[in-house]
Amino acid sequence: MQIVLNLANVQDWSGAVLVVGLLEDDLKEQLSNLEKLFEGLLLKNLDHQDFSAKSGEMACFQILKESSQKIVLVGMGTSNKLSLNELRKAVAIGARACIGTSGSLGMLFPWDKFDLELATRATCEAARLSLFQDLRFKSNKKESPKRPEKLELIGLEKASESCLKEINATCAGVELARELVGAPPNKLTPSSLAQTALEIANQYSLQCKILSQKECEKLNMGAYLAVAKGSDLKPNFIHLIYKSKEPIKHRLVLIGKGLTFDSGGYNLKVGASQIDMMKFDMGGSAAVLGAARTIGELCPIEVEVHFLIAACENMINGSAIHPGDIVNASNGTSIEINNTDAEGRLTLADALVYACKLEPDEIVDLATLTGACVIALGDQIAGLWTDNDELANNLLDAANEAGEGLWRMPMHNSYKEGLKSTFADIKNTGPRAGGSITAALFLKEFVQASIPWAHIDIAGTVWAEKDRGLDPAGATGYGVRTLINWVINRKNK
Ligand code: BES
Ligand code: MG
Ligand code: ZN
Repeated sequence: MQIVLNLANVQDWSGAVLVVGLLEDDLKEQLSNLEKLFEGLLLKNLDHQDFSAKSGEMACFQILKESSQKIVLVGMGTSNKLSLNELRKAVAIGARACIGTSGSLGMLFPWDKFDLELATRATCEAARLSLFQDLRFKSNKKESPKRPEKLELIGLEKASESCLKEINATCAGVELARELVGAPPNKLTPSSLAQTALEIANQYSLQCKILSQKECEKLNMGAYLAVAKGSDLKPNFIHLIYKSKEPIKHRLVLIGKGLTFDSGGYNLKVGASQIDMMKFDMGGSAAVLGAARTIGELCPIEVEVHFLIAACENMINGSAIHPGDIVNASNGTSIEINNTDAEGRLTLADALVYACKLEPDEIVDLATLTGACVIALGDQIAGLWTDNDELANNLLDAANEAGEGLWRMPMHNSYKEGLKSTFADIKNTGPRAGGSITAALFLKEFVQASIPWAHIDIAGTVWAEKDRGLDPAGATGYGVRTLINWVINRKNK
């Protein structure tokens, strides 16, 4: 979808559909202003509809003026409760009402009630991403209804073209993440994930190293390699690097869990454990690659960003790990694998050790790590674990600005008790209760204490079971926007 600013007055605008966001407070006044455009037709049409601009309300009709033009009115509630999320929601409702129409979609919202740049971003992202659809695996792509090809923001004169460039690059990153997560596990494999990283590197002149199984063996990544043992597909450790041209002020590492399928291994996934959904277990790596794509395009200054993915499959065959195996991670720590389904943390352990060797200023990992996090926070809020208050607040700000739900969770060291092993240094699984806290504490074992590190559990947010308005059903691309905001805003801090 092409996004353009249209500096014309709404009177002079013509296109297929006009979407107008309205506030509850002075609705009459807003409508009579609009009425000038429609020569009495608007209120006459509205008479038959019950519309008072309450949040989420919509009225939709054809205005047979010069051209056959459709108008969609969307309620945004009262101005004292107005928020960027309310704007996003209203925009998505308006955009969805345009499905079935091709051509230009004009939008007119009370943007002046917000910070203009944030409002522009919220509007464009909500419109483009709520209309996203993935037809890659359909043989008849023409079956699906038409969608508008162009979005025109009417009268938004102060928004800048550079802001639009950022928006387009951001949406492309989110869409890439959605496509990676949405791809089935027979198509999206450790090597195809590596291929995607190489393509991003080629397109945006990033450096990219793909470490083979042999190279990972040389680095003694025994925890990561143990997980890959039961699969016919070889693991690929992906290391992508963005370096800005100016002197570097911050070196950051983003790590994504990259299980292209998680069968659970021999402590098999059964019952309600959603084995059929476990293609999404590379959602962390998808967010990291989506962010890499956007960062590669936008070239933020004074930062160096490393993107790491220990990609593999958790499968079952005669070479697969047994429950009870003891392996050594690359920092020497011995791990008793009491549950082969707690595999993500094993792959992340070696990725975190590798990350620390890069001597970064900060590390953030994203992972579909625990079902317990889904139970605690549901599918719209991811869990954040870190001992570093500054890093926590920066990430919470980044997520808030992105409209992505994120909540800081406790990480009490006393829960480490649950990971005590009789035979090895540590077990990979603690008790069921507080399962995402022990998972975070397990990861912490592999991070140098002097390096600020945060872990984000996206097990719930990676996927939308049903359409949510803003996110179509399926892969959400969660995390891309938070990571981009975090990396780009960093330079101002
Ligand atoms: N990939 C799963 C976590 C998951 C579960 C994500 C449900 C999304 C929805 C992870 O590898 C896993 O299996 N975790 C186990 C850990 C347990 C064995 C300690 C879990 O959460 O059940
Ligand atoms: Mg698992
Ligand atoms: Zn998993």
